[in-house]
Amino acid sequence: GKSGYDHYMLKEINEQPHALRECLRGRPRELEASIAIDELEGLKQPERVHFVSCGTSYHASRYGAKLFREQGIQTTTFLASEYDVDSIPIDEETLVVGVTQSGETADTLRALRAANSVGAETLAVTNVVGCSAARETDYVMYIRAGPEIGVAATKTFASQQVALAMLSRDLSGRCSSAFIEALRALPDQVQSILDTSHAAAVADEYVDADAYFFIGRGFDAPVALEGALKMKEITYKHAEGFPAGELKHGPLALVTERTPVFAMISGNSNIERMVGNVREVESRGAPVVAVTDVPGRIENHADHVLEIPETHGLFAPILANIQLQLVSYWVANRLGRSIDKPRNLAKSVTVE
Ligand code: M6R
Repeated sequence: GKSGYDHYMLKEINEQPHALRECLRGRPRELEASIAIDELEGLKQPERVHFVSCGTSYHASRYGAKLFREQGIQTTTFLASEYDVDSIPIDEETLVVGVTQSGETADTLRALRAANSVGAETLAVTNVVGCSAARETDYVMYIRAGPEIGVAATKTFASQQVALAMLSRDLSGRCSSAFIEALRALPDQVQSILDTSHAAAVADEYVDADAYFFIGRGFDAPVALEGALKMKEITYKHAEGFPAGELKHGPLALVTERTPVFAMISGNSNIERMVGNVREVESRGAPVVAVTDVPGRIENHADHVLEIPETHGLFAPILANIQLQLVSYWVANRLGRSIDKPRNLAKSVTVE
């Protein structure tokens, strides 16, 4: 059941501290300052990595890929529906990672099968034990988020982010105590956001907006995409997310006083340049909601600040996303939408 929550989505948002603890269980090794994912024993650092995934899982992959590259692993992300082994360099030294919560997404399964057929190594990062993706790949890593009923992916996204962060260090064989300490702090930090967020008040203020924009740089950029997907999926309102630098290459033409802009500004993103982007939208009269761990740097330019705890710079996007989930949920709630089963959508997309 919904354990007293009005929607599965809100229940699942609130389950994230527990989901992350499960995802982490037994994997970080403090003593050696390393990460060990038991089910991946024998998997070596590959020559190159291809991520194949869809929707929210694609956004997690975009985030994960940045962590892989930061470890010196050559990594490319593909929308599974666009993955075409005939036109992409792929061989036995390629590890193709299918990131799929359900493990049943048709596009992702097709991409993994294609990778198998050319002799690449394949790995499924999934939530469902014994799913098709797990059965058809060489390796499987479980994210252990527990069942997700709401069509909108929430806790599974956070768990995918944490799983891929660990995978990046497991594959590279290089980790640090600071990284592990920051990973371990995440569940409590997510809990503190859930306990103190005023996302509902922000949602109230902007429930009638024409459209919502989400911007971020670097590690924050994938979460900007995810924030927009969640917003459109459950509110049926226009939302767009993009790397902040793209603003003035087109989307800025849409920015008005009726289009709130959610700006992810974390200690790790290029703060000066983000402040510049925020000024651009501010001067067009757009309301600005900063999602940030450095509130002091942005206060004067933001109408609202949704604060996140300080973390290892690389993990700020995990925390920022929790605030965005809550904003979308509360906008959809005020609009009386069918939050757990949005129109036209299915939990797993089993046709291409
Ligand atoms: O089960 P999967 O992770 O493969 O699903 C991929 C997408 O269909 C899924 O993430 C979809 O975008 C979500 N409903 C978004 O909330």
